Amino acid sequence: MDSGLKGEHVLITGASGGIGQAIAKQFDEEESCLSLHYNKNKESILKFSSELRSKYTLFQGDLSSESSTNKLFHESVSTYGRIDHLIVNHGIWPELDVPAHEMTLEQWDNTIAINLRAAFMCSKHFLQNLETFPEDCASIVYIGSTAGIFGEAGHVDYSVSKAGLYGLMLSLKNEIIYLASRGRVNLVAPGWTISPMTEQFMDDHKSIRDALQTMPLRKLARPEDIASVVVFLSSNKLAGHISGQVITVAGGMEGRKLFEPREIDIDRI
Ligand SMILES: NC(=O)c1ccc[n+]([C@@H]2O[C@H](COP(=O)([O-])OP(=O)(O)OC[C@H]3O[C@@H](n4cnc5c(N)ncnc54)[C@H](OP(=O)(O)O)[C@@H]3O)[C@@H](O)[C@H]2O)c1
Repeated sequence: MDSGLKGEHVLITGASGGIGQAIAKQFDEEESCLSLHYNKNKESILKFSSELRSKYTLFQGDLSSESSTNKLFHESVSTYGRIDHLIVNHGIWPELDVPAHEMTLEQWDNTIAINLRAAFMCSKHFLQNLETFPEDCASIVYIGSTAGIFGEAGHVDYSVSKAGLYGLMLSLKNEIIYLASRGRVNLVAPGWTISPMTEQFMDDHKSIRDALQTMPLRKLARPEDIASVVVFLSSNKLAGHISGQVITVAGGMEGRKLFEPREIDIDRI
């Protein structure tokens, strides 16, 4: 199916991570032109990007910093011109379970700065770029989380940062059309996905069983499961009448357990 994304300029934040790489590879298959962002993991992004066939450039930046975010967008536009599609994918999930009454303001501020404030800054720059280069079509896809829908005990900072993306998405879908009349904004909410962010849990069968008990499909997502939805939502040809939507990619997850542990086959995750 022709996505119409060939030659379109796509900026992906956090392209060095597990889901970001999968997103970059799927846009590469569509022959899009890629601005790939990373923060610390240069080695990882160099390794996978050398296999890409499309035009791409790597950009470094800590997106909790306003000046780094400004620099990323300035350099990306200077390199390839108008950014047609923005994928706000970068993010952190502080591993330790910390109940709200013990959480430091430092942790709260850091998570919100990276996951939510940076998403706002990226969106702002993207919209400014649409103002500079007026054309009908454009899109933003945010990578949220089921934690932003169901909450996540011990991770209120993360959950709030992802729920905040929902408000950003709903507001900007009504603003973007004044800069690109067919502009669209959507959000993909993954559940548990096998990536560097979750790799420490892969041997923790109890946690996996707990998570799978809430999901009829009883398996974890692969980064490719998320990436294909992102590419679909970015395509004006395939998703041109979809805006302001959340697509949850979590095997039908509910906020309650559906299965007893004995009903989970750990060899089939
Ligand atoms: N994996 C899951 O189960 C899951 C579930 C729901 C939602 N998500 C969301 O999916 C997105 C991608 O996660 P992932 O699983 O691919 O995780 P990952 O492999 O850990 O990747 C995280 C990405 O975020 C970047 N990043 C971290 N801190 C940053 C900062 N201060 N400034 C700019 N970039 C920064 C990292 O850059 P460097 O590596 O270069 O430092 C990396 O590219 C995240 O938003 C995450 O919250 C993941």
